[in-house]
Order: sequence, then C-alpha cells, then structure tokens
Amino acid sequence: MQKTAVLELTNLRKTIKGKEIVKGIDLTLYPSQIFGFLGPNGAGKTTTIRMIVGLIKPTKGSVTICGYSVAHDFVKALSNVGCIIESPDMYKYLTGMENLLQFAAMNKTISQQRIKDVVELVGLQNRVSDKVGTYSLGMRQRLGIAQAIMARPKLLILDEPTNGLDPAGITEFRNLIRKLAYEEGMTVFVSSHLLLEIQQMCDVVSIIKQGSVIKTANVQDILHDDRIEWQLNNPEKAIEILVKRWNIEAVQLKKNTISANLNQHPLDKINESFIKEGLALTYCSAKQTTLEDLFLDLTEGDQIV
Ligand SMILES: Nc1ncnc2c1ncn2[C@@H]1O[C@H](COP(=O)(O)OP(=O)(O)OP(=O)(O)O)[C@@H](O)[C@H]1O
Ligand SMILES: [Mg+2]
Repeated sequence: MQKTAVLELTNLRKTIKGKEIVKGIDLTLYPSQIFGFLGPNGAGKTTTIRMIVGLIKPTKGSVTICGYSVAHDFVKALSNVGCIIESPDMYKYLTGMENLLQFAAMNKTISQQRIKDVVELVGLQNRVSDKVGTYSLGMRQRLGIAQAIMARPKLLILDEPTNGLDPAGITEFRNLIRKLAYEEGMTVFVSSHLLLEIQQMCDVVSIIKQGSVIKTANVQDILHDDRIEWQLNNPEKAIEILVKRWNIEAVQLKKNTISANLNQHPLDKINESFIKEGLALTYCSAKQTTLEDLFLDLTEGDQIV
C-alpha cells in the first residue's frame, strides 16, 4: 500500500513582477524522508518554501500537506508544519525557556513535558535558562528547531538551516535532523546551496536551477552511480559508438575526456568495440559520482559554495 504523502507540490509556479521565478515544480514527500532542496543562490528555494507555508500565493499549481490543500484548508494543512525560514524569530531579552513557553501558550496541545523533551532533544538543557541574547548562532538555531517541533509537526521545513554554523555545529545539526526523522517520524525539508551538507544529511534530493527542478533522485543512488571515463584519439567517434552501438545516453565530453554511465553494459566489450573501430584507447577509469559532479554538470558550473 502506498503511504500517504506528507507534502505534495503540483505544477507549482510563481511569477513576481512579470518574471517567472518558480517554473512548475512537482514533488511528493513521504513520512520520515529527509529531503534536500539544493540550488544556487537565487534559484527559487525560499520562494517555493514561502508558497508551501502559505506566506505567498502560488500563481498556479497547488500545495497539499497531509492531504489538506494550503489554498482551501489553510489551518488544517499548516497545523502539520513546523518551519524556520531564513532565521528563527526569538525574543532576545527572554530566556530560551520563556521563548518556548510563549510559543506553547498559543497551542494547547503542547504539554510541559513535551517542552522539556524537545529542549533535551536539541541539546539545550544547560542553557535554556539563559537569555537568548547571550546565545551563539548555533544555540539560536537549536532553539528555533525546538520551537518548530514542539507541536510534533509531520513536516519540518528548514530554509538554509546551517548558514553560519561551524563544522562541529553542522555535524551536530545533521545528527539532530536524522534523530527527528527516525525517532519522531518527521519528514524534513531542508533547503541548501551546500552540496556536502545535503549529501550527508538527506535521503532524497531535488536540484533546482532558475526555478525548475532539473533532477530528483535518491542520494544513495547518485553516490553509487559510477561513471566511466575514457581518453581516446577520436572522442567524437567514440561518442557515436557509445550512443549508437550501446544505446548509452548522457555521454559527456569535457576537454578530451569522455564520461558516461554504462547502465549494466560490460566495459570490456565496449572497449573492444572502440578498438575494433580503430580507436586508440589511452586511458579508462571508473569514477565515483558525487553530488557535486552531478550538480556542476546539471547547472553547468553555476557558482556554488
Ligand atoms: N518579492 C520579490 N520581488 C522581486 N524578485 C523576487 C522577489 N522574491 C524573490 N525574487 C527573485 O526570485 C529569485 C529567487 O529568489 P529566492 O529567494 O527564492 O532564491 P533562493 O533559491 O532562496 O536563493 P538563496 O540561496 O540566495 O537564498 C531571485 O532572483 C530573487 O531576486
Ligand atoms: Mg533563500
């Protein structure tokens, strides 16, 4: 049986001042998935997130959360969401605990025990009685997450959550996100322009460029998607053989190196076919794909960090 989708985007579009910023995004997320929304600056990540949580209206298309339409059943849909866009809003002159209590007062379902539990879950128990003004950025992020998960949302949305965290902070954050997905069954939607972060944290990734999703894949599949690289005296001829004789698609030529995914075809036979056609093979090697390779290929080297 198919599980109920936690988040469903259908042909989601946004035009602002005559410019199409989000160009028809389709996406379905299921319980406990950690999803990475990866794209360079200005790709449309925050705009998409704003539409998901109803801060702006889509020009076209729909957002459904746990079966409820954000446009038609806003309160029910959003009751399933915890969200931090850009940076969490907190009162600096209150303590961490006072901030959480203030927020909990708006939602009768949050018990004192739950507040205590989330503080421990995010590892803030030793600082929760200090004023937020004295917190480091990482501590503020943790407090923001504590606030966002207090009401046990089915979907947690974090826009660029590790911005400004140090490497140790990023590792801890990653562990926290995994814990939330596994222990609380939460679906987590994380946007980022940091490849490694997404590669290490997420199960599924969509790569967005100029408002369009250009690839959605399981991160593990990408990492196990080995490519072969060749250098030969006549690369054009070799590409023709790969495409026509072996039906291999997405063959790339960069400088004088060809790369392609073999899709189960035997490498020795392919190399034999090159030689039979009179090509001289000077180099052949397997290369493990990283998300970075894929990202750079797909975005044609758009600047990222
Ligand atoms: N209110 C607005 N008016 C005009 N242009 C906007 C508006 N909101 C967003 N844009 C434009 O839409 C594009 C996408 O912006 P968005 O903030 O969604 O990108 P992003 O992927 O979140 O980028 P970043 O990684 O820098 O946060 C940008 O070119 C931005 O300038
Ligand atoms: Mg953004």
